[in-house]
Amino acid sequence: MNFFEKYTNRAETELLAQVNFAKEQGFYPYFRELHSEQGPIVRMDDREVIMLGSNNYLSMTMNPQVKEAAKRAIDKYGVGSTGSRLLNGTMDLHVQLEERLAKFLGTESAVIFSTGMQANLGTLSCLLDKDDWVVSDQQNHASIIDGIRLSRIPRDHKLIYKHNDMEDLERCLKQIPKGEKALIVTDGIFSMEGTIAQLDVITELAERYDAGIYVDDAHAVGVLGPKGRGTPAYFDLEDKVDVVMGTFSKSFASIGGYIAGSEVICEWVKHRARSIIFSASAPPPAVATVLAVLDIIEKDDSYQKKLWENSKRLLKGYQDAGFDTGESQSHIIPIIVGDEMTTFFFFKELLEYRPRSVYTNPVRAPAVQPGRELLRTTCQAAFTKDVIDEAVEIMATVGKKLEVI
Ligand SMILES: Cc1ncc(COP(=O)(O)O)c(C=O)c1O
Repeated sequence: MNFFEKYTNRAETELLAQVNFAKEQGFYPYFRELHSEQGPIVRMDDREVIMLGSNNYLSMTMNPQVKEAAKRAIDKYGVGSTGSRLLNGTMDLHVQLEERLAKFLGTESAVIFSTGMQANLGTLSCLLDKDDWVVSDQQNHASIIDGIRLSRIPRDHKLIYKHNDMEDLERCLKQIPKGEKALIVTDGIFSMEGTIAQLDVITELAERYDAGIYVDDAHAVGVLGPKGRGTPAYFDLEDKVDVVMGTFSKSFASIGGYIAGSEVICEWVKHRARSIIFSASAPPPAVATVLAVLDIIEKDDSYQKKLWENSKRLLKGYQDAGFDTGESQSHIIPIIVGDEMTTFFFFKELLEYRPRSVYTNPVRAPAVQPGRELLRTTCQAAFTKDVIDEAVEIMATVGKKLEVI
């Protein structure tokens, strides 16, 4: 039998049938095309859509100064890097960005990758050795889970604690034999339900059990802490976190990722992480975009303030309407629906609403626990009060119709 024949008679065809059925019924939510730039209002086909599903937290994709910097980088450096950082793919822009990030985050060093996914895959897989232990929050991002999988630690050295449950974290730490090395890994702001890691307790436990700390600040950089310096800065615990990871695909309006920490860790990762060695570096306009956003947020925290102001208004609107918003503490606000089909119908009805519709991200298991299916909604700095109120009104109308509220 030819290798690909299995794709005509197994689960793979079932998946295709499910996708086609969902498309026909109009509730297939994925790979939707946008016909405009990312912003508070986007165009999808012929209609205007309020974008409640973007990670453009500081609305920097539209910032004229940032766009100009990306254009200038193209003129000077061209559009691509055509090589790995290790070889021909390091431009002075990449080095400048590493230095600026280290300064911004208050670490000795930083290393940039072409995506945040690659940052977690490459770093965790080369930091964790075969005798080490890892203790990871149940709701950590897929790139953390996969980074740990790619490492050489045995299965029984991976301990998962209940989401943000510090007693359960301690229970895991107690299982590790004395003298053995452990790394605690957590998101800073959790990507699905918008909770903030209890870094004050985590650092205390890490000290007591002599563990290292790795924080994925993908959703917190630019958002949390003074000047958006992230979760460690928010708790004033920057010196207690060994490695902080982040991405450029959200507040920084670009693509790429980084880790920051001591020089010795960063040099190790730079020379050992396979995702940096065997992959081309980020293109010049993407790097210049991040530098331009840093220029702005280092001087001006009005974008960050606006984002928080808007997030509070959106959360209050949802709560007044009667939605279950889980434990959200941030700009990521879930609408907990608790059932997969209703979640998809909710998504569809919102997108079909007229004259203006609303885009949200429907999330099902395994990205969330079964029974916790939700619409992931996110705020942006450039939302106006009117847009937020309009979005809430549409959500409430559809929510009532589908008996979500
Ligand atoms: C918590 C977290 N870590 C890492 C990543 C990966 O980032 P990137 O989009 O840069 O690959 C994401 C992206 O969704 C994320 O949410």
